[in-house]
Amino acid sequence: MGMENAEFRYLVVERDEEGIAVLRLNRPEARNALNLELIAELGRAADMLARDDTVRAVIVTGGEEVFAAGGDIKEMAGKYAPDMLNAYGADLSGFEKIERIPKPVIAAVSGYALGGGCELALVCDMIVASETAVFGMPEITLGIIPGAGGTQRLPRLVGPHRAKEMIFTGSFFDVHACREMGLVNSVVPVERLMEEAKELARRCIRNGAVALACAKACVNEGMNTDLYTGLAYERKCFSLLFSTEDQKEGMQAFIEKRKPAFKGR
Ligand code: CAA
Repeated sequence: MGMENAEFRYLVVERDEEGIAVLRLNRPEARNALNLELIAELGRAADMLARDDTVRAVIVTGGEEVFAAGGDIKEMAGKYAPDMLNAYGADLSGFEKIERIPKPVIAAVSGYALGGGCELALVCDMIVASETAVFGMPEITLGIIPGAGGTQRLPRLVGPHRAKEMIFTGSFFDVHACREMGLVNSVVPVERLMEEAKELARRCIRNGAVALACAKACVNEGMNTDLYTGLAYERKCFSLLFSTEDQKEGMQAFIEKRKPAFKGR
């Protein structure tokens, strides 16, 4: 663990014996603003956690004070279009790597999740938020627009009208408004945030890892394609799961009226 954290400047990665990894942004002096280095570290951490079979689920958090205040405005201020297309365009794939971890990924959000910070929460599978969480896309107030998936993932999640209100106005939304629009799964007091996220992770990982990976891939692929392509993808994944030991175990356990013991294969 010491070794692996040594390779990160702005991230802390912890794993527990249950197989839940916590990936915590740690750049408090800049409200966890996402500079290029931090985004690259997120990509490296995502690769590491995706490959590690002992990790069953991932929680992404910024701690109790702030989730993340967005892209690093000081780093971006003097840039021109080619810089953004090259450096940032390539490095934002760090977010996509988080999205593609084939395990449940839960954002535990407390405090501000703005701009790129909100977009980071959007690449997670579910969002658990504290009562102090605030979401927003303030890019428009800086003369730009969301550039890490906000104009694409937010409308897919909450619908185009709500997404446009958030993106066009740059206003901040409290956690209750976000719960109402379907952006967050649940709201808890700050001190319960990590336990709530872990409990949600546990409710997922008591199920088989292969089925979870397939379920995630089907929902994510399906959201990005037409219904019939998505249904064909689902049919293949559904059928393939009948070649796993977990399917035999899961159905046998039901018939024998006992709890299944999944092995993730
Ligand atoms: N980039 C760089 N530095 C940031 C930052 C950001 N996004 N957000 C905060 N900081 C820095 C501040 O400049 C300040 O640094 P100094 O101590 O050197 O002055 C430090 O963090 C503390 O910030 P504040 O004093 O402003 O803290 P606060 O608690 O009063 O306010 C806040 C917190 C509401 C989050 C406020 O900092 C803020 O509005 N931040 C900017 C939010 C924003 O506009 N985000 C969108 C960025 S663009 C983007 O995200 C593009 C994209 O899609 C990738």
